[in-house]
Amino acid sequence: MTLDPKNWPAFRKTAHAMLDASLDKLEGAREGRVWTPVPKSLKAEINTPLPQGGISEDQMMAELEAIMPYNPGNIHPRFFGWVNGAGAPSNILAEMAGAAMNANCGGRNHVGPVIEQQVIRWAAQIMGMPSETTGLISSGTSMATVTALKVARDKFQRENPEAKLVGYTGAQTHSCVRRAFDLLGIGKDALRLVQCNDDFEINLSALQDAIDKDRAEGFTPFSVIGTVGAVNVGAIDDLDGLADICEKEELWFHVDGAFGAAAILSPSVGHRVKALSRVDSLAFDFHKWWQVNYEAGCVLIRDPYLHRSSYANRPEYLRHDEDGLAGGDFWAVDYGPELSRSFRALKVWTHLKTHGIDAIAEVVERNISQAQYLKRRVEAEDKLELLAPVALNICCFRYDFRYESNAKNARIVVDLQESGLAAPSSTIIDDVTAIRVNLTNHRTQESDLDILVDAVLEMGKELE
Ligand SMILES: Cc1ncc(COP(=O)(O)O)c(C=O)c1O
Repeated sequence: MTLDPKNWPAFRKTAHAMLDASLDKLEGAREGRVWTPVPKSLKAEINTPLPQGGISEDQMMAELEAIMPYNPGNIHPRFFGWVNGAGAPSNILAEMAGAAMNANCGGRNHVGPVIEQQVIRWAAQIMGMPSETTGLISSGTSMATVTALKVARDKFQRENPEAKLVGYTGAQTHSCVRRAFDLLGIGKDALRLVQCNDDFEINLSALQDAIDKDRAEGFTPFSVIGTVGAVNVGAIDDLDGLADICEKEELWFHVDGAFGAAAILSPSVGHRVKALSRVDSLAFDFHKWWQVNYEAGCVLIRDPYLHRSSYANRPEYLRHDEDGLAGGDFWAVDYGPELSRSFRALKVWTHLKTHGIDAIAEVVERNISQAQYLKRRVEAEDKLELLAPVALNICCFRYDFRYESNAKNARIVVDLQESGLAAPSSTIIDDVTAIRVNLTNHRTQESDLDILVDAVLEMGKELE
């Protein structure tokens, strides 16, 4: 017995129907609720004993259709929480081809690595990095950060195995950087959180002081991690300032550009991230502002020799041949921690080819201008207060309550999510709870922000 369909024509019919159901969902992305919690009844239906025998494809399709309404809601234009991309229907074509190919992209001689390399060449070109830059399509920025910082760590450890390595980043940095330090055995405490200025950007003189102090105390500074698009408020570190310090101090310059690196495409903000061309390594996500479906992160590393030497160590059963299936120029396993890897690069490749970079730039620029629109709407309302500068695509504000403001603003966020009308998230800025609106969605229009602001005003009034 095989697991192929017993009846191919019937399977084909079901597969076409499933495609239609998926397209219906996407065509109706604006309709209905943003988010709906999973009903208890569905949780109970999912909680079944281990299936011994199978069910028909039609039955399986019915079960898939039953779960489809309960995604996080990020395909909806009024999903404003955290930083989630909306994806694009065109990704479905790549996902279908990818599922049929079922390629393992850890290595070997097939089209997977060829496409991945092409995507990396494009990414390096967009960021202004050299053509010999190497990289991978990762699951996300968290893994891209681990992948990059291992190369940095190894470079310094090779030179001085006894060194007590320390790295530096702004206090607004995403938690994935600290996790990377932990996972790589450098130690969470070896990441120095440098204070930020009023714009939530890393303070360069505080950074220099921290480096000087550590050197004086016998530590070995090895890396500075800048952020383009800090997750709380969207702040952009002074990349040229950081690159200058890294050059002078001979430190590895890594940038977390999870969503913010896409600003390189923006006519209005692009100049602030031009110095991405100066990084030693960059981590960012195609699945956020570029609208590629999950998962599609990216790591770029300037020095191909250092990158390869940090990972390439193949045992005999993975040995390279000149010809045959064990040939091929590029094996991802020589550049990152994973051997089995899905063909993520395929959907990035088709996405960039289908839409072209100009359309993605337009999405980025529109979201940036929508953030300014929201800022203006907040500033125009007596009852609303802006809580941070709007540098990029995130606007943090609150309803101005006389008492219990933090709890009430947090309540508004949860109530909005549960209403199904809009889904911002909340965060805390200088001990103040903020309603946080992130704009990385190609479907969002200004009228969606009006709906949000009106709802916040109404809910705030009720809670006063
Ligand atoms: C600035 C920043 N860095 C890193 C990450 C982690 O990225 P990922 O979720 O792709 O691992 C995020 C996620 O939102 C982020 O906003």
